[in-house]
Amino acid sequence: MSMDAAEITKPHDRLAAWLAADMEAVNTLIRERMASKHAPRIPEVTRHLVEAGGKRLRPMLTLATAHMCNYAGPYHVHLAATVEFIHTATLLHDDVVDESAQRRGRPTANLLWDNKSSVLVGDYLFSRSFQLMTETGNMDVLRILSDASATIAEGEVLQMTAAQDLATDEAVYLQVVRGKTAALFSAATEVGGVIAGADKATVQALFDYGDALGIAFQIVDDLLDYQGQSSATGKNVGDDFRERKLTLPVIKAVALADAEERAFWSRTIEKGQQGDGDLEHALALLHLHGTLEATKDDAITWATRAKASLAVLPPHDLRDTLIELADYVVERIN
Ligand code: IPE
Ligand code: IPE
Ligand code: MG
Ligand code: MG
Repeated sequence: MSMDAAEITKPHDRLAAWLAADMEAVNTLIRERMASKHAPRIPEVTRHLVEAGGKRLRPMLTLATAHMCNYAGPYHVHLAATVEFIHTATLLHDDVVDESAQRRGRPTANLLWDNKSSVLVGDYLFSRSFQLMTETGNMDVLRILSDASATIAEGEVLQMTAAQDLATDEAVYLQVVRGKTAALFSAATEVGGVIAGADKATVQALFDYGDALGIAFQIVDDLLDYQGQSSATGKNVGDDFRERKLTLPVIKAVALADAEERAFWSRTIEKGQQGDGDLEHALALLHLHGTLEATKDDAITWATRAKASLAVLPPHDLRDTLIELADYVVERIN
């Protein structure tokens, strides 16, 4: 049976196809600006990470929202590259903080080089992102993206202090996720509208979409940390448990734990005494209490909110693809 191409491609691929020319310009700009004449370690590290690809989800959000608002200028490309630079900088720092060994299907920079290189090259990329965004000459986008950078750092620090603490509840988790992940998604979608001079209600709708999509995305990322295949995610499974992070499936399981289960979580997460079979036992408890399913339901709720935010905007191919992207973000679990 023959199928329409639009039916068989994933929304992510359809976005990439629609935005192909722009994305080429973004990738050229990224390659140009990730270099450094003075410190050869910088291009070595950035090339390693950038050439591994990545889904380029955030820059596509900026390009798509700018087009949806009929932007005709050149600066959506700068903003998309800025957003990906901020993202890449946070990944370099995040893998040091999380002591991760795999990223984008490759050994992490901290493993191949060292923590110092990852921290300093991450700082360099952050600074490059600020240089890039000033070229737009638009104070509003500067404010939005610098606010987002501060919020991401706050989210990461909050997560660090909430880790290992079994009292961490869903409200704290939401605050962490909104900060470390959704802030960049919502900034990415908001600046697309702002650079295009969209009205306040439209900009708010774009922000709300990015915020809800980012939350759904991170909830799914946390599910994949227990349920995913390393070959598909390009990251190691079980990292969050090893790092003693209170992510949503665990928070829900701790809330339902009996005394014996609580003792298990206390030993492995609070005291950090982990041995053979503990990850498997944690997974068994998540299954026992149905918290992986319940977490997926929460992701679906956020994806539904994301879709509802866009539904108020005028019809557009890209709007419809972004609406489908919200479902796809959750479906990547399967
Ligand atoms: C990884 O983001 C960091 C999270 C917020 C979970 P992505 O999964 O978008 O990373 P890449 O860019 O595709 O590698
Ligand atoms: C990602 O957090 C958020 C940032 C990079 C700021 P995670 O630590 O959950 O993401 P992964 O799983 O390493 O990609
Ligand atoms: Mg991490
Ligand atoms: Mg992290």
